[in-house]
Amino acid sequence: MKINQNYLSLQESYLFSTIAKRVSEYSAAHPDAAVIRLGIGDVTRPLCPAVIEAFHEGIEEQGKAETFHGYGPEQGYGFLREAIRNYYEAFGVALSTEEIFVSDGAKSDVGNILDLFDRENTVLIPDPVYPVYCDTNLMDGRKIVYLDASKENGFLPMPEESRRADLIYLCSPNNPTGAVYSREQLQAWVDYARKQEAVILFDAAYEAFVRDPDLPRSIFEISGAEECAVEFCSLSKTAGFTGTRCGYTIVPSALKRNGASLQKMWLRRQTTKFNGVSYPVQKAAAAVFSTQGQIQCRENLAVYQENARLISDTLTRLGIWHVGGKNSPYIWLQCPDGMDSWAFFDHLLNNIHVVGTPGSGFGKNGEGFFRLTSFATQEATKEAMKRLEKLYQ
Ligand code: MLT
Repeated sequence: MKINQNYLSLQESYLFSTIAKRVSEYSAAHPDAAVIRLGIGDVTRPLCPAVIEAFHEGIEEQGKAETFHGYGPEQGYGFLREAIRNYYEAFGVALSTEEIFVSDGAKSDVGNILDLFDRENTVLIPDPVYPVYCDTNLMDGRKIVYLDASKENGFLPMPEESRRADLIYLCSPNNPTGAVYSREQLQAWVDYARKQEAVILFDAAYEAFVRDPDLPRSIFEISGAEECAVEFCSLSKTAGFTGTRCGYTIVPSALKRNGASLQKMWLRRQTTKFNGVSYPVQKAAAAVFSTQGQIQCRENLAVYQENARLISDTLTRLGIWHVGGKNSPYIWLQCPDGMDSWAFFDHLLNNIHVVGTPGSGFGKNGEGFFRLTSFATQEATKEAMKRLEKLYQ
C-alpha cells in the first residue's frame, strides 16, 4: 500500500494545535502565571436563552416515541433551511432551500468541498490566510498560487488578469486580518472568476460582525455570484456554537462547470458521506434565526465588539500599527520594534502571560504581524490590555 504522500509536505502540526501545545507547556512550567488567551478565535459567551430553550425541546422530543427523530435529511431539516433562507432574504439575497446545506461547521465543509474538484486544478489563495484553505489543498496535492496581501493593499488583494485560477478562496471579513471587501471589490472578483470559469469559495464565517451597512455580508449580494461562487457560513462566532457545531454551505443551482450542477454534485457527496447534524442541534440553530435569538445573539456580539474597540484603542494609544476590529472580531497588528511574529508571541507570553496568534502562521506575508481576538471575556480583555499598556509604556 501507499500512504497519501501529500501529507508529508504539511507542517507537522496545525497552527492552533502548535499554539495550544506551546501554551500548555508554558503553563506547566509556570503554574502561577495567569495566562490570558487571545489566540484561537474561540467564543466565551454561553449560548443565548432562546437557543438553550430550543436545544432542550429538541432533547425532550428525542426522549418520546411520538416525537423521536432517527436519521434526518442529510441536507438539514426543512425548518432550519427555511430559517436560513429568510435570514438571507432580510439582506436582499434570494435563495431556495435546495441551495442551503446544513453542516457541522464551516471548517469541515471548506475541506470537504474539494471532493468536487479535480486535483489538477490551480488554486488561488491570498496570503496571509486561514490555514485550512492551504492545508486541505496540500493534502490533495493541488497546485497553490499565493496572492500577496499587504499593508499596501489594505490586506485586500485584487485579481490580476494575467493569473490563471480554477479555485479562488476569499474570506471577508477576513481571518486573520479583519479586512472587509467592498461591494466594488467583490464585483471585480466575481467578474474575474466568471471570465476564468473559476469557482470562488467564499468564507463568510464572520459576516455577523459587519456593522457598516455599505459592506457586503454575502458574496451573493454581488451580481453574477450565483454563477461562480459557493459560500460557507458558521454559527460558531455568530451564536457561540464553537462547541455545539453547526454551519451551512450555499451552493447555488445556477453554478455549473463542465455542464454539471455543483449543487447536485454536493448533494450527492453529502448524502453519501454525511448523515446530517443532530436534531437537537438543528433545533437550537433554528432558534438563532428567531426574533428573540437574533436579539440575544446581537447582545453577545456587542460584548466582543466592545472588546475589539478596547484592544484597538489600547494599540492606538501605544502607537502600535493595526487594522481590523471594526467589522470583525480580529485585530491584526504589526509587531513592535521589528520583532518577528513568534518572537513577539514569546515576548507576550513570557512577560505578560498573554497569548495571541503569530501572523507568520497564516503565511509568509504574515511575518512581523500578530493577531489578537476579541472573543475573550470582557474582564480578561481589560486585564490583557492593562498588562500590554504597562509593558509598552
Ligand atoms: C481561528 O482562530 O482562526 C478560528 O477560530 C479557527 C476556526 O474557526 O477554525
